[in-house]
Amino acid sequence: MTPRRILVTAALPYANGHIHIGHLVEYIQTDIWVRFQKLRGHNCRYFCADDTHGTAIMIRARQEGRSEEEVIADMREAHIRDFAAFDIEFDNYGSTNSDENRELCAEIWQAVTDAGLVIEKPVEQFYDPVAKTYLADRFVRGTCPVCKAENQYGDHCDKCLSNYTPHELIDPRSTLSDATPELRQAPHKFIQLEQLHGFLTEWTQSGESLQPEIANYLKGHFLGVEGDEQNPVKELKDWDVTRPPEYFGFEIPDFPGNYWYVWFDAPIGYIASTKQWCDRNGENLDDWWRSDETEVHHFIGKDITYFHTLFWPGILKTAGFSLPTRVHIHGFLTVGGTKMSKSEGTFVMASTYVRHLDPSYLRYFFASKLSPKVDDLDLDLDDFRNKVDSDLVGKVVNIASRCAKFVAKSNLSKTYPDDGRLFEQGASVGNRIAEFYENCDYNSAMREVMVLADRANQFIEAREPWKLRKDDSRQDELRDVCTVGLNLFRQIVVYLAPVLPRLAAQTAELLNSPIESWNDSQTPLTGTRVNEFQHMMTRVDPRKVEAMIEESKETQAPETSAAPSSAGFSDSPEPLEKEPLTTEDCTFDEFMKIDMRVARVVEAAHVEGADKLLQLKLSLGGEETRNVFAGIKSVYNPDDLVGRLVICCANLAPRKMRFGVSEGMVLACGPGGNDIYLLNPDEGAKPGMRVH
Ligand code: MSP
Ligand code: ZN
Repeated sequence: MTPRRILVTAALPYANGHIHIGHLVEYIQTDIWVRFQKLRGHNCRYFCADDTHGTAIMIRARQEGRSEEEVIADMREAHIRDFAAFDIEFDNYGSTNSDENRELCAEIWQAVTDAGLVIEKPVEQFYDPVAKTYLADRFVRGTCPVCKAENQYGDHCDKCLSNYTPHELIDPRSTLSDATPELRQAPHKFIQLEQLHGFLTEWTQSGESLQPEIANYLKGHFLGVEGDEQNPVKELKDWDVTRPPEYFGFEIPDFPGNYWYVWFDAPIGYIASTKQWCDRNGENLDDWWRSDETEVHHFIGKDITYFHTLFWPGILKTAGFSLPTRVHIHGFLTVGGTKMSKSEGTFVMASTYVRHLDPSYLRYFFASKLSPKVDDLDLDLDDFRNKVDSDLVGKVVNIASRCAKFVAKSNLSKTYPDDGRLFEQGASVGNRIAEFYENCDYNSAMREVMVLADRANQFIEAREPWKLRKDDSRQDELRDVCTVGLNLFRQIVVYLAPVLPRLAAQTAELLNSPIESWNDSQTPLTGTRVNEFQHMMTRVDPRKVEAMIEESKETQAPETSAAPSSAGFSDSPEPLEKEPLTTEDCTFDEFMKIDMRVARVVEAAHVEGADKLLQLKLSLGGEETRNVFAGIKSVYNPDDLVGRLVICCANLAPRKMRFGVSEGMVLACGPGGNDIYLLNPDEGAKPGMRVH
């Protein structure tokens, strides 16, 4: 077999939000595919990067009084940490704000300009004179011109559902500064995608590059079909790819003072990330991006279909790069059948998950749910627990734990015993399982593997090694039974290795033999030494699941990448609105409604069963006290808190938590984890004083 050269990417996560379990559907799915290809001996590389540019980051940096570079550096660190915690392994993790990306953007821009695809047109848009930036529609609020409802979005009204242009809005306000925005005109540059219509029809409809439902969606919404009266050929809209100042991005060489729109430079980040890896490893970028011998596979969520199936191939084609061999598009994660929700505690951050549960659980659960379809997938918490308990713990790990102890610190049989052809049968389905992985049909792969696990367990039950052990005259037979059991186990673990790298490593350790190739499933181990059995995986502790959900309710994380509605793919041919919201407007009056007071901690205690919480009794002066649960246990000792002054939000609606009712909140700053700092007033402040 000649190894294939395969370049794989997952979408570049926005640098203005933390990784959550929805994102993980994608990064885990892709990681599994890459690990599978590597295990098969292919030259496969996984590239990703942070997507750093755009208005949202700029606004966030201003709010935090830091530079954009500082904000994105912190977020990058957090992303890398989260991915590592889930065993998601990149060959390079770059940034769209890199020199490599700037240079590639310039090169590609030159190519699309030379190809005559770029035109300049004036665009009239609201401008915030205080924030000094043009405002996308979602940053403008005002009174609906139709029904006069107040505080409606720039382009549509939630009350009467009318659509309009921001110019029609009555009394418009910028959500960034509350200033009245001015209509201003600025030149923008557009890419005329329509010039590539023929090519895009051919590429999207070839049957090779896209899932059939995606190809149909593109045909129906954007491209049309020649001679089809129901669906005539449609014109692709010009794509606005530049932004006037102020904007955080790369300034355009031949258009000074203007910046490439974040979605222009983001996918180019795939190439830039590859370049960093090439430079580090003495490889040639053209071998990876301009060679017919290299496959390019993108994994993305359905919300960013348009960018990756029309805009991106158009750019690649024009600039002479390889076209994607395939764009693998997945659906969205729901939890308990509905959209992830912060108030329900189902918007679980990756970092929260790993504080409570084993990442292998989630990797396996997603694998068991993923198919080549674009359907959404649901994380039902009972289902999650059942699957992990019954498949991984009850079936797979059980095989090892039932056999290993009888041969620990001794050796497997010298020749592989008669096992009624079980190992051989397991070896023969290897190709089938590989095919499922190749087609992203992990669900079928997992089912196939569980059939093998069932058979192995039946074998062990029938041969009862625990009885053989007691009979001195049957020790050879015992060794043989365990040799078979452990080999069947290892075969299964090889097949699961792309999903469960940790289990593969533990198995390698147990049997003193590395798992490095898919072919390790084809030959049994004999004569090798077996180590002491180390615990491999426990059942899902329902209390930990509950604690994770509880904690996700507690952390009112700032709004991150808003998951779009699960209905259909992104419908907008001009998807300018993908940058997620980071700002919530709060008027002065609203701010004044918050009753913040000086309080003294009179009692502090640990909370039974809570990983993060301390229970505080606060005195607000006089008789008035409050019971507050605060997520500060990682940093503060209850005893050190008693007697000190804190700032408390006193008029927060009481919240029922698993441990009792919380009647307020103490104010602290810092990113969380081990970095939490309680605010405390200067000397002289008295409990009960109001904070202004
Ligand atoms: N920055 C863009 C991608 C640029 S690629 C050149 C972006 N970032 S994102 O952080 O919002 O999303 C990253 C990936 O995670 C996307 O493919 C997106 O579809 C996926 N998901 C985000 N939330 C998700 C779920 N709730 N469920 C499944 N996938 C999700 O888009
Ligand atoms: Zn209205």
